[in-house]
Amino acid sequence: MSKERIFLSPPHMGGTELDYIHKAFDINFIAPIGPLLTEFEQKFCELTGFKHAVAVTSGTAAIHLGLRQLGVQSGDVVIASTLTFIGSVTSATFLGADLHFVDCDETWNMDPALLAQAIEEVQKSGRRVGAVLPTDLYGQCCDYDAIRAVCKQYDIPLLIDAAESVGASYKGKHAGCGGDAAIYSFNGNKIITTGGGGLLASDDKELIEQARWLSQQARDEAPHYEHSTIGYNYRMSSIAASIGLGQLEVLDDFVARLREIFAYYEQQLASLPGLTFMPEAEYGKTNRWLTVMLVDDAFGASLDDIAQAMAAENIETRPVWKPMHLQPVFKDKGCTGGAVSEDFFNRGICLPSGSALTEVELERVVNVIKSVVK
Ligand SMILES: Cc1ncc(COP(=O)(O)O)c(C=O)c1O
Repeated sequence: MSKERIFLSPPHMGGTELDYIHKAFDINFIAPIGPLLTEFEQKFCELTGFKHAVAVTSGTAAIHLGLRQLGVQSGDVVIASTLTFIGSVTSATFLGADLHFVDCDETWNMDPALLAQAIEEVQKSGRRVGAVLPTDLYGQCCDYDAIRAVCKQYDIPLLIDAAESVGASYKGKHAGCGGDAAIYSFNGNKIITTGGGGLLASDDKELIEQARWLSQQARDEAPHYEHSTIGYNYRMSSIAASIGLGQLEVLDDFVARLREIFAYYEQQLASLPGLTFMPEAEYGKTNRWLTVMLVDDAFGASLDDIAQAMAAENIETRPVWKPMHLQPVFKDKGCTGGAVSEDFFNRGICLPSGSALTEVELERVVNVIKSVVK
């Protein structure tokens, strides 16, 4: 019989989620929009410090609304991190915008100096940069101050993709606080989940109110169904928000646990030749959503060897995101730099990082890695 599966980052319920769902049933707010959804948005504002938020069906939907609200139009170019998940960048194409990618620096996030270069490159080609969209990779905030300074210099709006960094911080502020708006994801694999969902947050009341209106089919004020703008069916359901309310109660514990998991892997493995771990930038505190390790030749076994040994032990691992500029679907898009992301992709592997992992499971993972080189 095969050993029990260890997943990469499965959902982890804190315990009160069902109470909130029962509450939704009790007050019969199963359908979208109701007190639990509003409460979830308010609690998320309390967590992050943003003044306004709209909860939607996915992080991808939140980016779509965010880019649209920041004025991205057909023919514009959105400048985004190349080392990210595709969900970060597809929304730009929904708006008819083009994409240009930027490499990361040693923080694994968008390199601010390369961003300035990218803006110059795009502008020289006669196109307008509609927005800058950097990703907080694997739970680590990008350098918001440096990126915002570049955006200010060129007067370009900044939407921070904090899909992976809920609970992380930058210079004492919650992840995402540093742009004109930020998005978060509550996909099933994220640090907290609503079973699928996302959220757009900003201090700009009108931006969020308009996004909320667009997320509900953009119905004009009239006694009948009147529409003068194309909207979307993107609003989060009350049931999803109920799960989110329970998850918010345990977020701090999950961040602490994920950081412990990272520390355990690092302590057990970093002394082995050829293994290094994603560093924590001095300006912030990562949530360590996923523990990511780089494997060099000195280790004596390849990434594939590790992944296969893990699979044989029923342990899930994942490669580092394949950079967007290497994706066949984006083969004609520009990229400023790219070698750093390619290197992380070629050498990186994501280890099981669920907040519910037990010590015994962690030991199983570490033992497999140690055994690969024996
Ligand atoms: C960096 C990043 N951006 C965007 C998304 C899209 O979020 P969602 O899956 O909620 O649409 C994800 C993950 O799913 C992500 O990791």
